[in-house]
Amino acid sequence: MRAVQVKEFGGPEVLVPVELPDPEPEAGEVVIDVAYADTLFVETQVRSGWGREYFDVTPPYVPGGGVSGTVTETGPGVPAEWLGRRVVSHVRGSYASRAVAAVSALTVVPEGVDLLTAAALVHDGVTGAGLIERTEITRGERVLILGASGGMGTLLVQLAAARGARVVGLARGAEKTSLVRELGALTAIDISAGEWVTRAREALGGAADVVLDGVGGELGASALPLTADGGRFSAHGAPSGGFAPVDAQKAADRGIRSFGIGDVQFAAAELGRLAGYALEEAAGGRLRAVIGKVFPLERAREAHTAVERRTVVGKVLLEC
Ligand SMILES: NC(=O)c1ccc[n+]([C@@H]2O[C@H](COP(=O)([O-])OP(=O)(O)OC[C@H]3O[C@@H](n4cnc5c(N)ncnc54)[C@H](OP(=O)(O)O)[C@@H]3O)[C@@H](O)[C@H]2O)c1
Repeated sequence: MRAVQVKEFGGPEVLVPVELPDPEPEAGEVVIDVAYADTLFVETQVRSGWGREYFDVTPPYVPGGGVSGTVTETGPGVPAEWLGRRVVSHVRGSYASRAVAAVSALTVVPEGVDLLTAAALVHDGVTGAGLIERTEITRGERVLILGASGGMGTLLVQLAAARGARVVGLARGAEKTSLVRELGALTAIDISAGEWVTRAREALGGAADVVLDGVGGELGASALPLTADGGRFSAHGAPSGGFAPVDAQKAADRGIRSFGIGDVQFAAAELGRLAGYALEEAAGGRLRAVIGKVFPLERAREAHTAVERRTVVGKVLLEC
């Protein structure tokens, strides 16, 4: 099969196209003919050697963890009716033309959802839907979303707005802020224009009931004081290089419930339920995956460069 490997930790140039043996399905597994693999910001960070304490990978390895495609082979014990089904799945190493997955990890893609959209939702839709549930966003609440123009941010804006929340989104530049408004935010603030904390406070009417921080670092730290007493703060994102530093005691003193990356790790059954939910929302026209650019698998290094430079508006995917 065709694949892309990280040959050593480093810049996008370490992503190298290779030929690898076709995967063989074991008992309870299937082989997926991969249509699209998603890309995540964290994959660029892991490739660079960041987060070795959290991510158990040693080069050479095939990066990526989510695919959409068609089942072409079944292992022992897997009913033959799976053959030909369009599915999404989390897999280990998705930058490849074929992937192997446990049948229990498959979610069938509903009619009316194309495989490109399905790939854009395989991680972001799951985590986004799970995050909205965990933080228990309800009608009328003020929700501040950092990184609102990102793969998951664009879904969070829509999912929170669909729950009746009053969404304020932060993004960079006119094109991205206009997208965030189009997706349902009442206000989108351009962080590159300065004074964003003051403008966010005004837009929120004082403070946010819920802050969803997909950026971390200084931006996340500056958003913590914007959380209302008794509110919720999720520090699930670190594209800036680190998660927002949350002083648990100070947060607790203000009655703020804080969430972290551990709160968006879901058990297998939950993954399937959340993927199914996101795909049904897309099928019903209630959730739009914003596709920014699709690169052929062999050009994965260009895809990583685009993600790191934040030049693409919307999700970056690989056609495998
Ligand atoms: N997707 C998932 O399933 C999942 C699961 C767990 C955790 N997370 C975490 O959630 C975060 C957001 O995920 P995502 O998939 O939405 O990522 P993404 O598509 O890369 O979006 C991140 C956004 O953050 C903004 N940003 C602000 N400052 C930045 C900086 N210094 N460096 C890079 N980006 C910066 C960028 O928007 P502007 O260009 O508009 O500033 C960018 O669009 C990531 O940290 C990710 O690891 C995601």
